[in-house]
Amino acid sequence: MAPHAVKIAPSLLSADFSRIADAVAAAEAGGADYIHLDVMDGRFVPNLTWGPKIIGDLRKLTRLTFDVHLMIVEPERYVDEFRSAGADIITFHYEATPHGQRLLHHIRSIGARAGISICPGTPVSMLEDLIEDIDLLLIMSVNPGFGGQEFLENSIKKLREARALIDARNPRCELEVDGGIHPGNIARVVEAGARVVVAGAAVFAHPDPIAAVRELRDHAGAPVH
Ligand code: DX5
Ligand code: ZN
Repeated sequence: MAPHAVKIAPSLLSADFSRIADAVAAAEAGGADYIHLDVMDGRFVPNLTWGPKIIGDLRKLTRLTFDVHLMIVEPERYVDEFRSAGADIITFHYEATPHGQRLLHHIRSIGARAGISICPGTPVSMLEDLIEDIDLLLIMSVNPGFGGQEFLENSIKKLREARALIDARNPRCELEVDGGIHPGNIARVVEAGARVVVAGAAVFAHPDPIAAVRELRDHAGAPVH
């Protein structure tokens, strides 16, 4: 099957953590492309989630791409462990390390795709000298740390800027958006340039997560180019 033009990446953050395998199965049944795994350390963000073990345990249940979003300080300390556990894409925060370029190269050298994310307060222009080294650029459309927050409107402008930078300098880089996405705004982020859309509450706070993934895809529209 050809890859979807717009990829849907359900975030397990809003799932019931005591039934996480069911959440993965529902995402897969709904036609998700990636499973988005939010790693939080209580330091970079004021919340705690999980480490590499759960990713290793879930790895046995699905062949879907594991899109690991590290919201941690000193991400260089942990990328190898997440890769060994089964992460396919490892995304760290631009704001979390002074050595982003080195870390992007390291992530690729261990066989993963290298992603970098920026918080709402960080301009896209900070990535101008890194763009050729990035496999996935993640624009946060909420302040990271919690699911179920409201989409920040300024993210539309940032997605457009990121799309222009990617098209001009590294067209094979994927553009992902994360935070506050639901069927009512997904078409707008796709129109602004996003090609991977993360959704947490819209999928797992929904009474029927399988239908919720399908609903997001139905509302996503198609990329213009
Ligand atoms: C927030 C996380 C998100 C979160 C999105 O810091 O990075 O992936 O799960 O959740 P929603 O879609 O509910 O905003
Ligand atoms: Zn995330």
